[in-house]
Amino acid sequence: MNKINKEYIDLYINSLIKEDEKLKEFREYCEKRNLPIIHREVGQYIKLTINQLKAKSIIEIGTNVGFSSIFMSMAMNGGKVVTLERSEKFYNEALKNIKNFRLENNISVLLGDAVELLDHVEGSFDIAFIDAAKSYYGIFFDKCLKMMKPGGIILSDNVLYQGMVASDELVVRRKKTLVRNLRNYLKYISDDKRFVTSILPLGDGLAVTLIK
Ligand SMILES: C[S@@+](CC[C@H](N)C(=O)[O-])C[C@H]1O[C@@H](n2cnc3c(N)ncnc32)[C@H](O)[C@@H]1O
Repeated sequence: MNKINKEYIDLYINSLIKEDEKLKEFREYCEKRNLPIIHREVGQYIKLTINQLKAKSIIEIGTNVGFSSIFMSMAMNGGKVVTLERSEKFYNEALKNIKNFRLENNISVLLGDAVELLDHVEGSFDIAFIDAAKSYYGIFFDKCLKMMKPGGIILSDNVLYQGMVASDELVVRRKKTLVRNLRNYLKYISDDKRFVTSILPLGDGLAVTLIK
């Protein structure tokens, strides 16, 4: 059971989202394989942010097989995405998928642990999309922060983690540390006066942080 949103609401909202045919096929293929790609309603919110900011550059932590980077690149209609992935298997798959969408000139995939790789990324970005190991969100955020353009937005996915972050009753024992880390992270990005953060119960929870 979905511990964040009611299923009929998600279904209804998603029924209103228009999708490119090829991207839809790719999404369905990823979903069949149970790959952890962005929820459609989260994708739609990212698309809104891209249009709002007239974004031309995005850094993403957590490529997986490239679904969200392809989605964001298409939503930008050009521009560049730099995306980081630590699994060699997913990295290779992402390269193949990006080529299949003919977006290899728009999307750079970097292989390695983002905790280290982020120190070597060059450039400045309108949007950062954090969608990888949840225990490191604070580190990813601070490293991305240094590369954000003024007025840029950092989006952090899965921050409510199946509702566990919002309620002790839902927390399973082996996730206790992770949930504590996510709560500290949300407190940090909510309290710090350099940012304005709104936490949306979209998908598995999306934090939207404006860098003032
Ligand atoms: C939720 S998936 C990303 C999904 C993708 N953003 C999408 O929506 O299509 C998370 C990915 O992050 C990768 N990952 C986890 N921790 C990482 C790290 N420290 N550095 C780089 N990649 C990491 C995992 O291997 C996994 O493929």
